[in-house]
Amino acid sequence: MNRNLLLGVTGGIAAYKACELTSLAVKAGWTVEVILTANAARFVGPLTFAGLTGRPVHTNTFEDAMAHIHLARWASVAVVAPLSANVLGKLACGLADDLLATTLLALPRSTPCVLAPAMNTEMWFNPAVQRNIRWIDELQRYTWVAPTEKRLACGDVGVGALADVADILAAATAAVTQPTPR
Ligand SMILES: Cc1cc2nc3c(=O)[nH]c(=O)nc-3n(C[C@H](O)[C@H](O)[C@H](O)COP(=O)(O)O)c2cc1C
Repeated sequence: MNRNLLLGVTGGIAAYKACELTSLAVKAGWTVEVILTANAARFVGPLTFAGLTGRPVHTNTFEDAMAHIHLARWASVAVVAPLSANVLGKLACGLADDLLATTLLALPRSTPCVLAPAMNTEMWFNPAVQRNIRWIDELQRYTWVAPTEKRLACGDVGVGALADVADILAAATAAVTQPTPR
């Protein structure tokens, strides 16, 4: 089994947990390549992920001519954790305005993709976000690891916290070892 994990990290407070996920995945034997959105890099710097993975971190669509295609083809599974409301909306609409969104669209249909959203409770239950979730479900393309309910960084208690990183890695592993036909 190839163990190439492409991790997309978006701009949310839970971006720091993506470092824990990266560390866990590397220790479990995965080779991890990280794409940070520009806003994710405001929360956690590329150097942290580079140190954890021992590989360059990708942030820019135009860093090399075919980064999005090479990364998409390289991955045996893609994981987006945390997935922001913004990137969730882009996925629902098929938008590709940065390296992460472009690479996700370029993923081969046979490559599993795991989505782990995290956001404020009101954002999560916003009708537009819920509609975007339904649109993504209709594609029958993505595996969700749902956010959990707890006290959030904003002080609210409710749904929106990033799932446990061990559960996210378990979902990625299951997606590779027990693939569903697409
Ligand atoms: C301190 C702070 C925390 C944030 N946390 C979240 C979050 O958990 N989830 C989310 O969807 N957006 C969050 N946002 C808003 C996003 O950063 C914003 O929507 C941004 O445009 C997302 O960019 P990206 O999706 O391209 O990474 C937060 C913003 C700030 C300033």
